[in-house]
Amino acid sequence: MKIAVLGTGAGARAHIAKLAALGHDVHVGTRDPQATLARTGPDMMGTPPFKEFLAEHPGICLHTFGDAAAQGELVINGIDGHNAVAALTAIADQLAGKTLIDYAVPFIYQHQTEHPWPTPWGVMPKLDPCDTDSLGEQIQRALPRTKVVKSFVTQEQTTVVNPQAIGGGDHTMFVAGEDADAKQQATDLLKSYGWTDILDLGPLACARGMEMYAHMHSAIGFGLGQHFGGHFGIKVVR
Ligand SMILES: NC(=O)c1ccc[n+]([C@@H]2O[C@H](COP(=O)([O-])OP(=O)(O)OC[C@H]3O[C@@H](n4cnc5c(N)ncnc54)[C@H](OP(=O)(O)O)[C@@H]3O)[C@@H](O)[C@H]2O)c1
Repeated sequence: MKIAVLGTGAGARAHIAKLAALGHDVHVGTRDPQATLARTGPDMMGTPPFKEFLAEHPGICLHTFGDAAAQGELVINGIDGHNAVAALTAIADQLAGKTLIDYAVPFIYQHQTEHPWPTPWGVMPKLDPCDTDSLGEQIQRALPRTKVVKSFVTQEQTTVVNPQAIGGGDHTMFVAGEDADAKQQATDLLKSYGWTDILDLGPLACARGMEMYAHMHSAIGFGLGQHFGGHFGIKVVR
């Protein structure tokens, strides 16, 4: 299947590598392919230059966000959450009629707060939107011709694409969205990744809960002593 991954960050790379290994035709989107390939140092998250990743994964096509979206029969959004709505709105035509699985978190990294939450890397970013709206819903409102599914967002993407890496794969992944067929597409993709416990939370408003869980994910990581990037999952016991 032709799958577009919009994003070149660490999370996107997990999906790109897994999808290619599963035999999909993967088209990656970035703002400016030449600029992305010209980078020589790690980004602010410490992720190595994309050129190094591409050298290890031949056969992956790098395009602009719009050209990648145009190629994909299914599209995954891995654009930094604070910039995702603007970037996706600009390519609304290329995304029309398609399922868009969104795993972005609407983090604001630079912010002033009266009560900062110290973390090993600085201050915890803040969520915006939060509580009364979500990034997933903002994207859906901006792209009414696209079927948005919120998923993947409650874990590190390296464990999303390889659930068996922890707990024998016995943990829970969530999907939420307005379109049943789109949620089925996301569910089928998750099953191909190896997921067996996939919980449909219902409407896209449930993206609020999934995105707000980001802080709890970090807190659990601190509790486990693994800091950000820790590999663990959550299981809904019922
Ligand atoms: N990494 C994970 O395991 C994980 C887990 C759960 C949720 N998330 C969330 O998922 C999202 C993506 O995470 P990630 O780790 O894959 O990548 P990331 O490093 O958070 O984001 C990188 C992507 O965002 C794009 N970007 C940055 N600023 C932009 C701007 N001003 N306009 C348009 N695009 C911009 C970059 O474009 P270029 O390609 O042009 O540089 C790049 O493709 C984030 O919101 C993150 O918090 C990540």
